[in-house]
Amino acid sequence: MSLETAPLDRMLAMAREALDNAHAPYSRFRVGACLRAASGRLYAGCNVENASYPVGQCAEATAIGALVAAGDRRIVEVVVMSEGDVPCPPCGRCRQQLAEFAGAETPVHLCGPEGVRVTTTLGALLPMAFGSDTLGSFERP
Ligand code: THU
Repeated sequence: MSLETAPLDRMLAMAREALDNAHAPYSRFRVGACLRAASGRLYAGCNVENASYPVGQCAEATAIGALVAAGDRRIVEVVVMSEGDVPCPPCGRCRQQLAEFAGAETPVHLCGPEGVRVTTTLGALLPMAFGSDTLGSFERP
């Protein structure tokens, strides 16, 4: 057996740590996310709520911001972790944000603190996605 920890195990550990750091005093629904970039680098994020409720940010968005700020652009694997009985699928806004940097085939693991509960793909979560290819055929004035 390899002494190196598998990427998915490291992603779960990072998502768990981010979840523990979530700022969710209003919903009390803590979320951690971890993204694996094509470069192999991993980026974690948590939800960051705000007293002005609509200003809150999802865990996936936090992780995407870290990935982009570090210079990565391609997401090849996604972990979303929450604590309730029901796994937390990315919200609609997060699906669109993930689609900017990930393909339809990208695995999305919906996890609890104990590990993966459901694995799906971004294409299954966001079929017929609007993307840059849609804009490509549009003649800008
Ligand atoms: N939340 C996420 O962080 N990611 C999602 O994809 C769904 C929802 C957060 C937002 C808010 O802080 C809390 O979960 C309850 O909606």
